[in-house]
Amino acid sequence: MNTQFIVKYSLASRLIHWLVALMVSGLFGLGLWMRELDYYSQWYQTAPQLHVLIGLILALLMIGRVIVRWKKKPPKPLSTLSKFEVFAAHAAHAFLYLFIFVMIVSGYLIAVADGDVMNILGFFDLPVMDSLFERQEDLMGDIHEWLAWGLIIFAGLHGIAALKHHFISGDDTLRRML
Ligand code: HEM
Ligand code: HEM
Repeated sequence: MNTQFIVKYSLASRLIHWLVALMVSGLFGLGLWMRELDYYSQWYQTAPQLHVLIGLILALLMIGRVIVRWKKKPPKPLSTLSKFEVFAAHAAHAFLYLFIFVMIVSGYLIAVADGDVMNILGFFDLPVMDSLFERQEDLMGDIHEWLAWGLIIFAGLHGIAALKHHFISGDDTLRRML
């Protein structure tokens, strides 16, 4: 296929896509690691703060991503794709956005649930707010943990689908995002 005529996602969309993929994977690994730390580990306090800091940067990036997507429409679906494939791709993207936003909101609600000020690596205090509902920390903790697994599995399948398009179907799906 001639790469000269590929209509790619905008540079900003591509950069944000790969940064978000990196951060989501990093947050997942960091999240699983930090919950195993014991009180005497030097990372016991700092690892969750780092997790929240990266999570907040992710939130800003996602807001940027929505603005970029709104201002600069993504390229039209490839003509070689069936209607079903186009629909499935759109649905998968919408789910990825939704997953990430729920992760951000649930993570924030865990971090502020006990009403104590959380200082982030000495840089700033996380704005606190009153508990919104009972057992907020437990409930949001469960949602955050289950959705983290759901998101990582779903994003993995999404990546495999992109590789299938590239190596098996031989179309430009992946090249448009590179
Ligand atoms: C897509 C982004 C994110 C992923 C993949 C992720 C992943 C995880 C994982 C795997 C855990 C361990 C869960 C457990 O077993 O308890 C965790 C815990 C946690 N996350 Fe996230 N996280 C994300 C975003 C955020 C954000 C944006 C915040 C806050 C603003 C946050 C705050 C927390 C907190 C406070 C915990 C500790 C929960 C506890 O002590 O039980 N996370 N996260
Ligand atoms: C945590 C990891 C990932 C997340 C959260 C993620 C999320 C997304 C989202 C939300 C879109 C929609 C694009 C938009 O709205 O601008 C997208 C598109 C895309 N992603 Fe990912 N992605 C991840 C990992 C990957 C990986 C590992 C690959 C490749 C191996 C990949 C390849 C693509 C491609 C090719 C598109 C464009 C698809 C099309 O045009 O239909 N992504 N991704």
